[in-house]
Amino acid sequence: MKKYRRYLVTSALPYANGPIHIGHLAGVYVPSDIYTRYLRMKGADVISICGSDEHGVPITLKARNEGITPQQVVDRYHSLNKKAFEDFGIAFDIYSRTSNKIHYETASDFFLTLYKKGAFNEKTSEQYFDEEAGCFLADRYITGTCPHCANESAYGDQCEKCGTSLSPNELINPHSTISGSKPVLRETLHWYLPLDKYEEWLRKWILEDHTEWKTNVYGQCKSWLDQGLQPRAVSRDLDWGVPVPVEGANGKVLYVWFDAPIGYISATKELTQDWEKYWKDEDTKMVHFIGKDNIVFHCIIFPVMLKAEGSFILPENVPANEFLNLENDKISTSRNWAVWLHEYLRDFPGKQDVLRYTLCANAPETKDNDFTWKDFQSRNNNELVAILGNFVNRTLVLTNSYYDGKVPERGPTDENDNSVLEAIFNYKESVENNLENFKFREALKEAMNLARLGNKYLADAEPWKVIKTDQGRVNTIMNIALQITASLTVVFEPFLPFSMTKLRSWINIEQSGWNDAGKHDLLQPGHIINKPGLLFEKIEDEAIAKQIDRLLATKKANESGSSKIIPARDPVSFDDFSRIDIRIATVLEAEKVPKTDKLLRLKIDTGIDIRTIVSGIAEYFEPQDIVGKQISVVANLEPRNIKGIESKGMILMAEDKDGKLVLVAPDQRVSNGSIVK
Ligand code: MF3
Ligand code: ZN
Repeated sequence: MKKYRRYLVTSALPYANGPIHIGHLAGVYVPSDIYTRYLRMKGADVISICGSDEHGVPITLKARNEGITPQQVVDRYHSLNKKAFEDFGIAFDIYSRTSNKIHYETASDFFLTLYKKGAFNEKTSEQYFDEEAGCFLADRYITGTCPHCANESAYGDQCEKCGTSLSPNELINPHSTISGSKPVLRETLHWYLPLDKYEEWLRKWILEDHTEWKTNVYGQCKSWLDQGLQPRAVSRDLDWGVPVPVEGANGKVLYVWFDAPIGYISATKELTQDWEKYWKDEDTKMVHFIGKDNIVFHCIIFPVMLKAEGSFILPENVPANEFLNLENDKISTSRNWAVWLHEYLRDFPGKQDVLRYTLCANAPETKDNDFTWKDFQSRNNNELVAILGNFVNRTLVLTNSYYDGKVPERGPTDENDNSVLEAIFNYKESVENNLENFKFREALKEAMNLARLGNKYLADAEPWKVIKTDQGRVNTIMNIALQITASLTVVFEPFLPFSMTKLRSWINIEQSGWNDAGKHDLLQPGHIINKPGLLFEKIEDEAIAKQIDRLLATKKANESGSSKIIPARDPVSFDDFSRIDIRIATVLEAEKVPKTDKLLRLKIDTGIDIRTIVSGIAEYFEPQDIVGKQISVVANLEPRNIKGIESKGMILMAEDKDGKLVLVAPDQRVSNGSIVK
């Protein structure tokens, strides 16, 4: 196996259009962090690179929907995510962003180099153009009727109802989501990366030279290659992104998947002047941590870009994970079906390691996996508390009580002692081998097995009984238990850095190098340890029930909201509309209508008169809260008799998608009787 002199670890740059959730963490950031921490402990020259991916159509769409700029969207999520990663102990050397100047320059130069080498094809094609808005439309900006299921709000790239991928010209009756107008086809010029020309090279590089890649990764690459590669457009007609740096390319930007991976390079430049040794020296081992939806970009497209450029190294491995589900359902940002990192950190302060542990123990390494709160609780209570925490606690409490915290000398050892001492070393080796091969679940399991061994050793040796008869024997037992504890601080450090920092302070040692694990005299006789605290605490049912309730509420809201937006009604003439007399009025009195749940009887001042209206809003307003408020009333609605009360008019309300009613009211006080027109 090749010996490398340094490591470049990259983690997929998350889009800055939403918060980080457990799916991101389990798939990408927890494994990359474990790997990096392990390499650092080995004393390797390693840098860990990440940052926000701040381009792409979903970001511009979100900005449009919220009436803010794309820059405001990415500013919000960049700082939220950067902080959440830090608080969670994901130790990137840099968390950069692709809206940085240095990234614009780097991506732009990269494109130009390829352009000048003649690495691109230029091609004109027809694309939808919005004549009212004066711009080309990205697929997501076009909606229309799905040709497969007749869903009237299918997108230009996909119908979310039946799941089919579409291209915009398949949509029946397409219209622009920007202006609502019917788009027309117009010619536009773009630059294409001819992946087909690299097919043979890729086949050799991946299918022959990287047979060690994970089966899911290798398999996906093979299937892409077997289907045959097509040239891929690397530019788009859009006003958010890195401008295409050639003449005549006004209004065109680099495709987000062209600029984002270059973000790894720009971030390295931002981190260190010495960036080239990480990117251009064959002695660097580059590893990309990603989720499975990123495989083609990191194993095919980005390598072709690097190869075409000519001066960069290629990834040595791309240990992509599958997906994590949440309580048996696909994690979804738009449906709010997720455990958000920043919310977890708020709800479980100081418990970063519990989530790190659960996500690693349950990582979707070979297939999709499920996160459940029950499993989270039992991993904590039955493994972290009952095995690791229990062993450490017993060892440290007994050492304090028998020896005042002074590590005893190991006397003569028996066969069992020797095999335990040997096992400490073997577990360290096994954790290490698994980490080297990106088998993080197995590595963690082996670390936990060392703690299990410690528990069993104490339970079998029963120092608390032997102490009454054979003090010398107890010295040996406790010395060995302490050596196990010291090795645990090493093998668990990449996985549970917060807890191991605590544990090291209790046994009063500095952080050791990786190869110290497995040594038999990490703690010398006479070394003084401190009083321990509790490494892990039990998580009670209530805390779990709270999380599950929140998810149930989300599910309910999604179901009632799934009717979505009701289509516009048939047109009415202006005359018809102006016959409706809407006025601003003030509520003078309000009381519940007896024997009803929903009805309030209101006395209102319409400026024209004082009148009574019965309105079905009692679920949403306490009578005393609505008194004094200004409201809008349809003043000329025919009177109706409701529960024996004559109701003259109707109050205007907006019904939210979950059925909640809110008042439609003027945004400033106006005189009663003001006409709404
Ligand atoms: N933003 C992409 C995603 O979340 C990942 C980009 S990785 C990079 O799927 F290499 F392009 F940066
Ligand atoms: Zn459909």
